[in-house]
Amino acid sequence: MKTQVLLSAILFLLICPKGFSSTKEVTNQPDSVYLFSYATTKDHNTRGLHFAWSIDQKYWHSIGPEYGYVKSDFGRWGVQKRMIDPYLMQDSDGLWHCVWSLNENEKAFAHASSQDLVDWKRQSYPMVEQGNCLRPVLKYNPAQKLFELTYVSSQNKYYCLSTANFKSYTPVKEVPSDSYVNSSKQITLAEGICTGQVHRVAWTVVDKLIGAYERKQYNEALGQERTEQDADRFADLKPVEVTVTVEKEKAKPISDKLIGIFFEDINYAADGGLYAELIQNRDFEYALSDKEGNDPDWNSTHSWRVKGENSLFSIATENPLHPNNPHYALLEVKSPGASLVNSGFDGIVVKKGEKYDLSVFTKQIAGKGGKVLARIVDKNNQVVAQATLNVSTAGWKKQQSVLTATADAANASLELQPLTPGSIGLDMISLFPQKTFKGRKNGLRADLAQLLADLNPRFVRFPGGCVAHGDGIHNIYRWVNTVGPLEARKPQRNLWGYHQTAGLGYFEYFQFCEDIGAEPLPVLAAGVPCQNSAVGGGGQQGGIPLCEMDNYVKEILDLVEYANGDAKKTKWGKVRAEAGHPLPFNLKYIGIGNEDLITDLFEERFTLIYNAMKEKHPEITVIGTVGPSFEGTDYKEGWELATRLNVPMVDEHYYQSPGWFINNQKYYDSYDRAKSKVYLGEYAAHLPGRPNNLETALAEALYLTAIERNGDVVSMTSYAPLLAKENHTQWNPNLIYFNNEEVKPTVDYFVQQLYGRNSGDEYLPVRLAVSNQRNEVKNRIAVSVVRDSKTNDVIVKLVNMLPVSVRTEVNLNGLETGRLNGTKTVLTGSPADKQVRPTTESIQATSNLPCNLPAYSFTVIRLTHSAK
Ligand code: AHR
Repeated sequence: MKTQVLLSAILFLLICPKGFSSTKEVTNQPDSVYLFSYATTKDHNTRGLHFAWSIDQKYWHSIGPEYGYVKSDFGRWGVQKRMIDPYLMQDSDGLWHCVWSLNENEKAFAHASSQDLVDWKRQSYPMVEQGNCLRPVLKYNPAQKLFELTYVSSQNKYYCLSTANFKSYTPVKEVPSDSYVNSSKQITLAEGICTGQVHRVAWTVVDKLIGAYERKQYNEALGQERTEQDADRFADLKPVEVTVTVEKEKAKPISDKLIGIFFEDINYAADGGLYAELIQNRDFEYALSDKEGNDPDWNSTHSWRVKGENSLFSIATENPLHPNNPHYALLEVKSPGASLVNSGFDGIVVKKGEKYDLSVFTKQIAGKGGKVLARIVDKNNQVVAQATLNVSTAGWKKQQSVLTATADAANASLELQPLTPGSIGLDMISLFPQKTFKGRKNGLRADLAQLLADLNPRFVRFPGGCVAHGDGIHNIYRWVNTVGPLEARKPQRNLWGYHQTAGLGYFEYFQFCEDIGAEPLPVLAAGVPCQNSAVGGGGQQGGIPLCEMDNYVKEILDLVEYANGDAKKTKWGKVRAEAGHPLPFNLKYIGIGNEDLITDLFEERFTLIYNAMKEKHPEITVIGTVGPSFEGTDYKEGWELATRLNVPMVDEHYYQSPGWFINNQKYYDSYDRAKSKVYLGEYAAHLPGRPNNLETALAEALYLTAIERNGDVVSMTSYAPLLAKENHTQWNPNLIYFNNEEVKPTVDYFVQQLYGRNSGDEYLPVRLAVSNQRNEVKNRIAVSVVRDSKTNDVIVKLVNMLPVSVRTEVNLNGLETGRLNGTKTVLTGSPADKQVRPTTESIQATSNLPCNLPAYSFTVIRLTHSAK
């Protein structure tokens, strides 16, 4: 298999030694041929639209075979994105239109158009009022410039509508069966009998289709470059020599915010993770609907149980603590002795001598008021801390106490034992270490937060990712639900299949940013939810109804007021001040949208928000979105929209193989500096099996040298995702893994840290002279030199992803003057190593800075300005 991959890559390189060219020199090509468009039922109809061509309609050549030129974007992840019975036709202007059926039940069809069958425009999913839409057929009436769509329902009724633009159409009417004329044919291809349409097209159309397919194959072959092939790939390679010349006269300013962090509540990153609360389901709001699968235990009682006899534990909803928090625990105690027990998130960890704030809202419902004994009990039933709390007889009241642990315990639980008979209500049962990051109340787990601070991030993006735009419009993350008293915040289902308390809310995010000196970068939904949302609300992802958009836009404007408004003169500034922060948080950036499909629904809503922000808050940099990939329809249309609206920055996302990062270092070199700036908001190198190791880390380090080189157009980057709790992980790889007791930064973390701690704001271009001329060799060596104007230090980053050492000399061109002292930090090991850590030594700079880069290494040399 290894050899096969290598061979196919070599084959491609031999075919296309100097870049890719699809057009072969063939002199007797036909002027026109037959083109067959079809789809198969494979993988639940998700493989998209395929093509085959023929000179004579007898012998067919399928392209790919079965290469998907356009795939359906409708519906949930994976198998639900189906393209059934696509029907392709060309209008009189030469534009191709494809309609297809989405699934067996949908009262909607899909439409997409293309000039050349290679690049497809955004898809739309018009809803129809009658029948589910099966086997659609499209015809064009050029005189009227109208398309007529007929389809069949599963009741075998025939319907018809006409439309000029696939946005609005005449009412759907039932038609006789003979109005439905489907010209699809069955063609026997090598892969079997397929149904589709036959068109007569110019050969150039087919040539372009073949070219697009071959280009994709070529790029994919490059992307498969992996270090495990290096023994073959670089079999005879001798150590390489590189001379680097710094061209300081060509210095250019670059962003000083290149390295930031992406925080999303995925993998238990918030509750049970960064948010230091020790009690799981403290609000009794876990619900079956939090999870997609059938998990009967995921309900209001999750993580709670009763230990002992003569007491009944149930969930009540009558007269709750707050309408946003409708469930609470009802304990009916016949005779005292039993306790309500919480097992925490995989147990509760306490440390000897440390203090824990316990708070509980209590209410005596029947019987006389009494007390509750609160105890932290270890797994051997030993009490490690205890206190008593009152039960309020006059409605809900917060009771508080401090518990001091007398011993360490890793798997403890909290027990609440009523000391008198009667019925009591309990809610918002919270146990919080006093030792949080910077000692903040309702704060963050100190070790995890410190690890984030140690990255020296220049910004923090929050609250996601997909969590920001949510699973359906009712699951959009609304900032306003996450501020104010904890009991009044609105918890909700987390799209990753668990529960969000909103205890870590916008106030806490802003506070954390301030605490670590990073810019806050909230990302809000563009009025549309995640593109993989459960279907509903107008087809595909749906969108907030336009009649509600004014309120939604206002909510976004209010966020700016909440962050920056005067504490005395503005409504939201006052709310912030009441929460303990009278001074503004100095919000400068807002992201609108998260890798959304660029649909009409999206564009309409994004434009409303963007225009309002531009008018009311021109001081805020709005960051738009350009889809989930470095290419494709959403990428192109997202960029077109951003350019049209003059959006200052856009958010790009791509998770790719190390080979992709190695072979795409020039990605930003040709970006137009006059258009929007780039925030590379989500990226990571993904290997099969998704490990983090030195190979992924070095691929990222290599690529980041190119980002620094393009730091005049790329303003910010953040690796994603950030955090993952062991045994609660929905996504790999992540930057940091953790459990209740340990934090486990990955190798990729150290690359981010080396960049975060060694960033600059001026880029000093370099010229490389490499002793080996093979592109594959040169692609594995990268250098970036920056200057940090605050310290006047010069930083040289050198990446060697080769299996041999690289001897470098860096001609500093006088930059060494006054910067003779420095440090050299090296991260090196074998590519599969997951545990390598950087080591640092002091060095003295010379004018040629000789340096040996070990095989598979990342070296950072920091030359300190002596006047510091
Ligand atoms: O980073 C994990 C997920 O990847 C994010 O939530 C989403 O934006 C992307 O698809």
